[in-house]
Amino acid sequence: MCVWTSILYELTNNILINVRYTSSCRPRSVLLPTSQITIARVFMLNQPLIPVVVDKPSLTFVFGTRPEIIKLSPVIHECTERKISYDLIHTGQHYSEKLDDIFFDQLDLPTPEYNLAVGSKSHGRQTGEMIAGIEEILDETTPDTVLVQGDTNSVLAGAIAASKLPINLGHIEAGLRSYDREMPEETNRVLTDHTSDYLFAPTETSVQNLQNEGLSDELIHLTGNTVVDAVYKHQQLADRQSTLHTDFGIDPDEFILLTVHRAENIDDQSRFKNILDGVSRLGQKLGAPILYPAHPRAKKLVESVSICVPDNIRVVDPLGYLDFLHAESSARLVVTDSGGVQEEACILGTPCITVRHNTERPETVSVGANSIVGTDPNAIIECGLEAVSKPTDWPIPFGNGTAAATIIDICCR
Ligand code: UD1
Ligand code: UDP
Repeated sequence: MCVWTSILYELTNNILINVRYTSSCRPRSVLLPTSQITIARVFMLNQPLIPVVVDKPSLTFVFGTRPEIIKLSPVIHECTERKISYDLIHTGQHYSEKLDDIFFDQLDLPTPEYNLAVGSKSHGRQTGEMIAGIEEILDETTPDTVLVQGDTNSVLAGAIAASKLPINLGHIEAGLRSYDREMPEETNRVLTDHTSDYLFAPTETSVQNLQNEGLSDELIHLTGNTVVDAVYKHQQLADRQSTLHTDFGIDPDEFILLTVHRAENIDDQSRFKNILDGVSRLGQKLGAPILYPAHPRAKKLVESVSICVPDNIRVVDPLGYLDFLHAESSARLVVTDSGGVQEEACILGTPCITVRHNTERPETVSVGANSIVGTDPNAIIECGLEAVSKPTDWPIPFGNGTAAATIIDICCR
């Protein structure tokens, strides 16, 4: 890879300071990050910018939630294997042991150098605090490239902070679109894509979505999805190690696995009740018990008096990755509103119905692995019965498990 280097003069308070400038991208402007100085700065080049070849880039991963930890894990391991230096900035968006620590342990990831501990807040406050914290660290550490994955507030914060500094930004899982701006995730995806220098698109559809928005072909790279890398690496271990069936007294191929956590399904209580009602009646028709590892957003509600959960739905704490993979691969049917779970069910050959009105993963539907059923109880029953009666030999539309290597190859060019 190539870095740009030069000696610059910084004129601050009429004092001329020498600043060595080194960056992997040609400077977009002469404003450079120097953490101590807050007033306007004027830079003058006293040497031409010289491209210098160095071996490896330095990377910073910014993330904050369960799915980001899981889907970034293959990319982080790829860096470790290739001895590429990297920092981990955890925003602290997820902090409960079962949404956070457990994955570092199971996925054999190092403890992040930085944890901003931002926690749960309104969208603006949470994102704003993350941006300020990330900027401060990037100012100090000046990596070549920041990598973010997915569509959460942590991703948007990482994107905004990096894109305003002379640092490359890479978006893993770029180009997904639900075309539903009611979902905060859609805003996060679009804004992140439009500030990125590398768009790592998992499928042809996501490449097409980016091209349709006028993003340059030079930025777009078809890589496959790192979710496949993670599943392939852990599936056999999960099947060997998990004691899920005995723990919960369920038989393989007999139960329905349910995950519902999206704000639009949980915070609207009538929708949440409809989903629980539809899945419960579907379970009765199939003679299948339902296992619901519930995200805290949902768990709080089902533990309160306002939501009555039908008897055949067993609500449990969120599962670790290995137990959850084993649950997905051995369930008769998956019912979900999760993005990652739609992909994993498809990869593992388990039929899935999605209790939303759209999906940013249309490939799962076109290969026949998933149906978008909405939240009406009768539609859930009808589509659930249909899903379990169809063949499950669909092709996997998210690549062959080499996405992480491809992404790092591109970052090192
Ligand atoms: C976030 C993402 C969503 C992603 C999900 C992954 C955004 C806008 N949403 O949703 O896209 O699918 O993560 O799981 O970024 N809580 C805890 N412990 C935690 C974290 C949260 O108890 O460790 C509770 C808090 O009450 C919090 C609520 O869950 O208010 C929601 O958390 P938040 O991070 O805002 O959104 P998620 O629903 O987790
Ligand atoms: N997951 C998990 N335990 C659970 C539920 C989900 O390990 O109890 C994993 C699952 O394997 C997938 C990811 O979490 O990789 C999906 O995260 P989530 O549904 O929270 O977010 P989304 O993908 O919708 O953004």
